[in-house]
Amino acid sequence: MRALAWHGKHDVRVDTVDDPEIVNQRDCIIKVTATAICGSDLHLYDGYIPTMQAGDILGHEFMGEVVEVGAKSTLKKGQKVVVPFTIACGSCYHCGKHQYSACDNGLPADNQDIAQEIYGQPMSGLFGYSHMTGGYAGGQAEYVRVPFSDVGPIVIPDGVEDEKVLFLSDILPTGWMAAENAQIEPGDTVAVWGCGPVGLFAVQSAFLMGAERVIAIDHFPHRLELAKKFGAETINYEESAVYEALMVMTGGIGPDAVIDSVGLEAHGFFVDNVVDQIKASTFLGTDRTHSIRQAIIACRKGGRVSMPAVYGGFVDKFPLGAFMEKGLTLKTGQTHVQHYMPALLNAIMEGKIDTTFLISHRMDLEDAPKGYDMFKNNQNEVTKVVLKPGFN
Ligand SMILES: NC(=O)c1ccc[n+]([C@@H]2O[C@H](COP(=O)([O-])OP(=O)(O)OC[C@H]3O[C@@H](n4cnc5c(N)ncnc54)[C@H](O)[C@@H]3O)[C@@H](O)[C@H]2O)c1
Ligand SMILES: [Zn+2]
Ligand SMILES: [Zn+2]
Repeated sequence: MRALAWHGKHDVRVDTVDDPEIVNQRDCIIKVTATAICGSDLHLYDGYIPTMQAGDILGHEFMGEVVEVGAKSTLKKGQKVVVPFTIACGSCYHCGKHQYSACDNGLPADNQDIAQEIYGQPMSGLFGYSHMTGGYAGGQAEYVRVPFSDVGPIVIPDGVEDEKVLFLSDILPTGWMAAENAQIEPGDTVAVWGCGPVGLFAVQSAFLMGAERVIAIDHFPHRLELAKKFGAETINYEESAVYEALMVMTGGIGPDAVIDSVGLEAHGFFVDNVVDQIKASTFLGTDRTHSIRQAIIACRKGGRVSMPAVYGGFVDKFPLGAFMEKGLTLKTGQTHVQHYMPALLNAIMEGKIDTTFLISHRMDLEDAPKGYDMFKNNQNEVTKVVLKPGFN
């Protein structure tokens, strides 16, 4: 089959590789009909995530048709499914609490040591996201093996277009969980850093959860325009100082909740960001954490911090004092996708949530390297790239 493989920093290629096979009785094989490139994929593309190996197949946002099932899969051949990016068993202590991204059994037994060492415990597996998260082949491919297919994939009713439901695989539940983690109360003002797909879905979700005002922050005018369409007020951080603007907009109080949907590759010539960048490039540090630092400083006293953004390593200059003294709460994590999928599928079917506005580019899987380059280098216009095998 054809699949998009990682070969190094800024080097991804569509290769011919072996077709996947059923390994475990709970597996199924999906023929991919649509798959998307995510902001998280850029962290791999830019070489920030350790334990990648040349030839690793990328992609964790995908859907398709079931073409093979193991003896214990509950799916049937021919069904259309969306697959969550988190690989979880459904029956361990954490899955029992619906904390699927914390599953104890998502990583192959011989692949648990790295996460154990860095994070204290192994996490769930992730598709196409390094050997630290299981080394599973991803879905930017013609076919993909889906472990625990009796737990993860959600069956899509006949006749529903792929583009309406594809984002159930990651960014829609991620934006939703980000807003949920912000513990929004009616009347709240919520500030969202980053108007990528995650930030834009967080904006939409925050309003649905009762926020009175949402203030979206970015520097790409087109992305800020999309946030405005959902009713957000906006701050372009290249035109206004963010903290000062937020204070003016909230009468000096600060937002009730802040959501960081930027992550470890924050842009901008801010002093702390430049220092982080130098440290990352000289292996003295890992993550660029400007946006979470700024969000904590801007948040009102007693407010809530939600951090869907991905961070991987260690940070310094973290405003722990402000965090403690202001009595803030922080909630974060890889999304527990399986927990959110059924209700969000219903919301899409009932027309309460629209996800298709986000898609700016559709391409053949063969053009995936071009799609990565565009998504990386023209984020203003390229909001989401959807790859479809055989698309012309
Ligand atoms: N928790 C999860 O399970 C999960 C799932 C999906 C994505 N993510 C993470 O969420 C983050 C966002 O994903 P995405 O797909 O929307 O990415 P994206 O790269 O498309 O968007 C990030 C946005 O942040 C903006 N930005 C950069 N620096 C900024 C700054 N200093 N202030 C304000 N905005 C700034 C960029 O201009 C861009 O529009 C990434 O870190 C991604 O890895 C997490
Ligand atoms: Zn993703
Ligand atoms: Zn589990």
